[in-house]
Amino acid sequence: MFSTRIKIKELLLSEKVNYQATVMGWVRTFRNNQFIALNDGSTNNNIQIVATLGMFDEATLKRITTGACIKATGEVIASLGKGQKVELKADSIEILGDSDAEKFPLQPKKHSLEFLREIAHLRFRTNTFGSVFRVRHALSFAIHDFFTKKGFIGIHTPIITASDAEGAGEMFKVTTLPLDGTAPKNEDGTINFKDDFFGRSTNLTVSGQLEGELAAMAFGNIYTFGPTFRAENSNTTRHLAEFWMIEPEMAFYDLEDNMNLAEEFIKHIIRYAMDNNREDLEFLAQRLDEEEKQKPQNERSEMGLIEKLEFVINNDFERITYTEAIEILRESNHNKKKKFQYIIDKWGIDLQSEHERYLVEKHFKKPVILTNYPKEIKAFYMRQNDDGKTVAAMDILAPGIGEIVGGSQREERMDKLLKRMKEMHIPTEELDWYLDTRRFGACPHAGFGLGFERIVQFVTGMGNIRDVIPFPRYPKSASF
Ligand code: 4AD
Ligand code: MG
Repeated sequence: MFSTRIKIKELLLSEKVNYQATVMGWVRTFRNNQFIALNDGSTNNNIQIVATLGMFDEATLKRITTGACIKATGEVIASLGKGQKVELKADSIEILGDSDAEKFPLQPKKHSLEFLREIAHLRFRTNTFGSVFRVRHALSFAIHDFFTKKGFIGIHTPIITASDAEGAGEMFKVTTLPLDGTAPKNEDGTINFKDDFFGRSTNLTVSGQLEGELAAMAFGNIYTFGPTFRAENSNTTRHLAEFWMIEPEMAFYDLEDNMNLAEEFIKHIIRYAMDNNREDLEFLAQRLDEEEKQKPQNERSEMGLIEKLEFVINNDFERITYTEAIEILRESNHNKKKKFQYIIDKWGIDLQSEHERYLVEKHFKKPVILTNYPKEIKAFYMRQNDDGKTVAAMDILAPGIGEIVGGSQREERMDKLLKRMKEMHIPTEELDWYLDTRRFGACPHAGFGLGFERIVQFVTGMGNIRDVIPFPRYPKSASF
């Protein structure tokens, strides 16, 4: 029976000895025709399996190669070697799946992250990605845990949609119409979607927010956690074309309530990983340390990974307005010496990631919540402030990453919302269903979106967002 196996993590943790056990997993190394390091993905620690000399035939031993899948049964004994407390003295070894050592791309040595990205189907079997994806899972669980305990209802919003939540382009088209030029056209030459599957033009969603707002107007507090898609041609270490987003939406919340929830939420999920994934985080901290050592002194971060996470959990986020941020940036030596690619010279401009990173990494040295942005650079649904110039928006910026959260109080006043939509050329007829929330029992409400991969990046210390999602999608890449 396969179900009798013990996970290696459990076996190593218990440190119990003198009992029969069965383990199954993938061979990392096989030394001296005798010592197998076996890994089953439950931990980065391998179990040492001793194949006593003379007990196994040559043919079996030959098949114990790096990457092969085996089942081993035997007695768990106190280990004589150093590095582990217990090991398994095998009575039987069964090869479940051979692996041609000549062809297996993962060798027992250090591979670059770039190389591993090309073999993303196998990189799960490395220590780095083992740790990253166990932590990713823990964060995902912690997110559901946080909102469930607070009485939020999880809502699955559609992935195929006819609306564009952000009022921006950059969407992937979804269609069943032929792409060979024979699709029916309107008189003006545009495609006629009447015969398309949905009878209209559709896209992959960029955000579940608008649908989330509808649910919040019934349940009070909701959250979404789903895939979102953006066809922006951003080749950066922080952008994906397919990423996961968590979007809570709360009735009877203003901007300050929104900030308080977001800060508590981020601290909760980091703490959860710290409490439950210590071993993986320590491994990743060490990996990051080694990576940092390759950098020139002045580019190294001041804190190690664990230290950084502890700091974030234990300190308040800095809260400042966009206007204050512009002042700080404008007055900075960095700006005066023209070290920014985009010089800060006037109120109203959108902040680039270099500015965001200056604020969190150089100036405040902690996460920063920026509020009350100019309305021109934010979405139509954000609540307009009395100054007529700004909206009740908030972005959370994290050291090393930049923006991790974007959110706002929503404009619940129908007249102001309609006026803004018209100014921004948002088609009001198409969003009539959304406007119904303002027609029938509107209330003050707010919400935000956390980019899941960005927080996974932050917690694992991985420099490239492509290394925290199993199969990344980005410009010119959709392998696997
Ligand atoms: O700031 P954004 O565009 O906000 C929204 O979509 C709102 N509807 C959220 C809301 O208020 N409910 O995106 C939210 C977050 C960003 O802060 C960032 O962390 C992440 O989503 N994000 C991306 N992550 C990876 N790749 C991309 N291309 C991303 N674009 C946004
Ligand atoms: Mg944003």
